Amino acid sequence: MKAIWYERNGAARDVLTYGEMPAPQAAAGEVLVRIHASGVNPSDWKTRSGSRPISAPRVIPHSDGAGVIVAVGAGVDASRIGRRVWIWNGQWKRAFGTAAEFIAVPFAQAVPLPDSVSFEAGACFGIPALTALRALLTDGGVAGQSVLVAGGAGSVGHYAIQFAKRLGAKQVIATVSSQAKAAHASAAGADACIDYKREDVGARVKELTGGRGVDRVVEVDLTGNIGLLRDVLAQDGLCAAYGSNAQEVRIPFSPMLVSGAAIRFFIVYELSPAARAECETTLALFLAEGGVQHAIAKTMPLSECVAAHELVEAGTAMGNVVLTVP
Ligand SMILES: NC(=O)c1ccc[n+]([C@@H]2O[C@H](COP(=O)([O-])OP(=O)(O)OC[C@H]3O[C@@H](n4cnc5c(N)ncnc54)[C@H](OP(=O)(O)O)[C@@H]3O)[C@@H](O)[C@H]2O)c1
Repeated sequence: MKAIWYERNGAARDVLTYGEMPAPQAAAGEVLVRIHASGVNPSDWKTRSGSRPISAPRVIPHSDGAGVIVAVGAGVDASRIGRRVWIWNGQWKRAFGTAAEFIAVPFAQAVPLPDSVSFEAGACFGIPALTALRALLTDGGVAGQSVLVAGGAGSVGHYAIQFAKRLGAKQVIATVSSQAKAAHASAAGADACIDYKREDVGARVKELTGGRGVDRVVEVDLTGNIGLLRDVLAQDGLCAAYGSNAQEVRIPFSPMLVSGAAIRFFIVYELSPAARAECETTLALFLAEGGVQHAIAKTMPLSECVAAHELVEAGTAMGNVVLTVP
């Protein structure tokens, strides 16, 4: 099969190889999926570059993808052959991810993809869509709440705005860094956008919430924005933190103490079965309702994986970068 792989950590153009290697087979409890689209996430380039030491002699990158089941292993219902699916955790604690023509995964990691949803969109679900859902569903959900989505034009943030609305949030505010990003976040349903590089975010949030603050922050950069929490969170508010632009976070203790604030950390790779089931069920409901916007900034052929990694690493794409596997 055609595949992308690396055998040491390093820069994309130094370590990513496009070539032929044997296709996997479905072991007991697994399905073999012919990949049609492979999603590139920040985690993929960070892992490749060495944030996590390489875990196998050869790694096929990417956890997200979508395709069609072409074979099943022992113990898996053969009626699943021919079904369209999206994949989660393709390359989490596993060597071979979705940047290939085929992947074999435990059957639960291949989730039904409705006919109305493209493979390219399905390749954005495992990380961006499920992260957005977990940030909103954890700790009682957002029905009736005011929500601040930091980085509302990001891959996760764009889904978070839409899903917050569908989950009953009464107000969704997004932070952005340009007019183009404000337009993107507004089109997803944000009631208001704040340019966090040019405006006083705390003052604007207070103004937009009648002085109360928001009940929940969906946080893309905890380190960069920790100082804002005291200004933007309502009493007993929650920050659902899924990203941080640096590893160490200094928390201003007294203001957080007085406000009763909580921070919920999570990583989408390690959702409990119950949390994952809740996210998958909610996503399926939203896809059936229709109208979910999938921000696919660029599609490229699998052979251009180096350029795709460099684009995601540069952080300039407004939305997901997806590789197609013809
Ligand atoms: N915990 C998890 O399970 C999980 C899951 C998915 C992603 N992540 C992490 O979350 C981050 C975002 O992922 P993504 O795929 O959404 O990336 P993305 O598509 O590049 O989006 C990131 C967005 O955040 C904005 N941003 C950056 N710093 C910001 C700040 N200090 N305040 C407000 N906005 C800021 C960026 O725009 P500007 O730079 O123009 O502001 C951009 O719009 C990455 O670090 C990723 O590794 C974690």
